Amino acid sequence: MKHIDRAISSSGHSPMYVMHKFFGRKQEDVIREYIKCYTNKGDLILDPFCGSGVMIGEAVKLKRKAIGLDINPMSIFISRNTLLPADITEIEREFYQISAEISHEINSLYETQCRECCMRVEAICYTWNKNNLIDVRYECPTHGKQIHPINFSDQNLYKKIQNGKIPSFFDDNGVCKYWYPQNRFLYNKSSPFLKKERYNSVNELFTIRNLISLAKLYSRIEKIENPDIRSSFKFAFTSMTHLASKMTPVRSSRPFSSAWVQQSYWYCSEYMESNVWLLFERSVKGKQGLLRAKKDLLNQNVTLNESSSIKELLTSNSHGFHLIQNSIDNLDNLEPNSVDYVITDPPYGYSIQYGELLFMWGAWIDTLNEFKEYITKEIVVNPRQNKDEVKYEQMLLSIFKRIHYLLKPFKYCTVTFHNPNLKFRNILVRTVLIAGFSLEKIVYQPPSRPSAKSLLQPFGSLEGDYFFRFKKSTIVDSTTREDIDESHLETLVVEKVIEILIKRGEPTHYTFIQNVLDPLLYEELNRTGQIMRFQPESIEKILKKYEGTVFVLVPLKFRKIGSRNLVWNAWWLKNPNDYKLKTPLSIRVSNAIEELLNTTNQITVKEVQNIVFEKFQDVITPDLNLIMEILTQKQKERMEVKD
Ligand SMILES: C[S@@+](CC[C@H](N)C(=O)[O-])C[C@H]1O[C@@H](n2cnc3c(N)ncnc32)[C@H](O)[C@@H]1O
Ligand SMILES: [Zn+2]
Repeated sequence: MKHIDRAISSSGHSPMYVMHKFFGRKQEDVIREYIKCYTNKGDLILDPFCGSGVMIGEAVKLKRKAIGLDINPMSIFISRNTLLPADITEIEREFYQISAEISHEINSLYETQCRECCMRVEAICYTWNKNNLIDVRYECPTHGKQIHPINFSDQNLYKKIQNGKIPSFFDDNGVCKYWYPQNRFLYNKSSPFLKKERYNSVNELFTIRNLISLAKLYSRIEKIENPDIRSSFKFAFTSMTHLASKMTPVRSSRPFSSAWVQQSYWYCSEYMESNVWLLFERSVKGKQGLLRAKKDLLNQNVTLNESSSIKELLTSNSHGFHLIQNSIDNLDNLEPNSVDYVITDPPYGYSIQYGELLFMWGAWIDTLNEFKEYITKEIVVNPRQNKDEVKYEQMLLSIFKRIHYLLKPFKYCTVTFHNPNLKFRNILVRTVLIAGFSLEKIVYQPPSRPSAKSLLQPFGSLEGDYFFRFKKSTIVDSTTREDIDESHLETLVVEKVIEILIKRGEPTHYTFIQNVLDPLLYEELNRTGQIMRFQPESIEKILKKYEGTVFVLVPLKFRKIGSRNLVWNAWWLKNPNDYKLKTPLSIRVSNAIEELLNTTNQITVKEVQNIVFEKFQDVITPDLNLIMEILTQKQKERMEVKD
C-alpha cells in the first residue's frame, strides 16, 4: 500500500451532497481517495462524528460497510436523507399534488404588479431595512427581472398579513391556523445560546409572511402518507428554511437570491424576504434540489442500503451502512478489534457550534424533545454549556480511547481537522496519542476552491484542513513521552519557520506558514519522542517576538481585485544572505506549470493541481490561489500568442 502523503486536488461536491447546507462538509473526492487507499471492498469503516454523512456515503459507494454516529438527530436526519435512494416518480407526483393544493395560496402572499405592464406577478423576494419594507424584486415574462421600490398595494398586502386578515392562513381571531416552532435559543433561563444575537426564538428569524407560508407548507408535508416520501420532503423543506429567514443579507452581487452567510443566528439590518413557494420549488426541482440529488444517487450504480442493526450490517454479504444517534463511547454492541478503518472529522473546539446551529432546522422537524439529553454529549467548547477546553479534551479522549479499542491492530485512523489555532490542533494530537495511537503523518489539504472570502482577504484564517494519519500500534508510547516546554517549542518554531522560508525561497504570508508548519513540528516531536502537554500560544505571537532579529515583515503585493491593489504583509528572513535559499516557490511552480502546458495538449485544472501537489509537497505545498493565478496568466499568454 502506498500512503497518501500529499494534498489531493478536489473539485467540490456533487448534487447528492450539496442539496442540504451543512457546516464544514468534507470534500468527497478527497475522502474517496483515502478510503480507497486504506481499505478493501467489504471492509468495515467507522465514522464516530458523521455530520452530514460524506464519509459514510463515499465508503458505501466504494462497496464498503460503514457505521456512522452523531449525537445530533439533525445530522442523522441529513445523513440518512442524503444517502437513501428515493422514488423519483413518487416525489414528482407528490410535488405536483402539493403545488396544485397550496402554491396558489402561498404565492398570493407575494403578489405584486409589473411596474411596466401592470401584469400580476409574484415577487421573487422583497428587501427590508430593519422594520421597513424597501423594494420588491420580480420577474415579468415580458420585462424580465425587475427591482422597484414597494408601492401602496405591496405595503397594504403586508399590512393585511400582519393583521391576520388572510382567511386561508388565519382564523377569525387572526391566529395562524398552522403550527410553527417557537423554541427559544436557550439552554436554560440563565444561559442563552452563544450564537444568538437579537432574535430570541426560531419564529423570530422569519417575517410573518414567510413564517405563515412555511407553516402552511410544513403542515401539508406532514400529511404525506408514505413515510419515506414525507421524510424526503421534510429534507427539502429544511434545505431552504434558512434561505427564507431574515439572516440573509441584501447582496448587490446576487440581487435575487438569499444566503445564510454567518455561522450564527445573526441580526442583519438589511435583509431579504424570499418567496417561500419559489424556494421550496427550487429545493425540489432546482439544480441543487431533491430530484437532482436523487438522480445523482441513481447514477452512482450502487444502492446505498441502510441496515437496521450493526449485526445485520456485519452479517450481510454486501455493502451498506448503519447510522446511530449516539456517542461511540456509549455504544457497546461493537466488538473490540473489529473495525478496519476509521475516518472522521471531530468537532473543532469552539469554531462551529453544531448543536446550536442545527437547532433551527431541528425545531421545524421536531427533533428537539431530547435536546437537553443529546446536547450534554456534544463535544465542543462552549461556556453556555459549561464546557471549557479541559472538558472538550476529556470528552474527545474518551472517544479516541474507544476508537482505539474498536480498531484492528496496525490499522489506520485518519482524522481531519480544521482549526486556525495551534492550541486546538495540539489538543487533538495530544488526545489521540494519549489514547494509544501513533502519529505517522500530517498532510495539509487545501480547500477545493479558494473561497470568495479568501480571494478578498486571503490571509489570517486557516484555509483547508489537516489530514492526520494515526496508526493503532500495539505499544502505547504516550506515557513514556517527554514533555516539551514552552521555551523549547519557541526555539523549535523559529527553527522550523526559517526552514520553511528557505525552502519556499520567498516572503510568505502567515497563513501559508501556518498551513505547513504543523507537519514539521509534530514530525520533530515524534522523532524526539516528545508531547506538548501545555497549551501553546499562537505561532504568530512567537514570530512577532523575533521580528527585527530573525524575521521581518515585508509588504507583498499579492493580488489585484478589480481596480484595487491589495497589499499584504509577508514574513521574511531578516538576513536572507545568511542562508542558502531555494529559487522562489512561485517561480518554480510557474515553470512547472509552463512545462506541463508545453508537453500536454489537453489537461484539466484538476490534473494540473494534482501534478503540482505531487511535485511540491509538505512545506512547499503551494497556495491554491497561486496555482489558479499562474494558470490564468499562462492561458492569457497563450491566447495572445495565437492572436
Ligand atoms: C465536524 S462535524 C463532521 C462533519 C462531517 N465530516 C461532514 O462532512 O459533514 C462534527 C460532528 O460531530 C458531532 N458530535 C459532537 N459531539 C459528538 C459526540 N460525542 N459523538 C458523536 N458525534 C458528535 C456534531 O454533531 C457534528 O455533526
Ligand atoms: Zn411587465
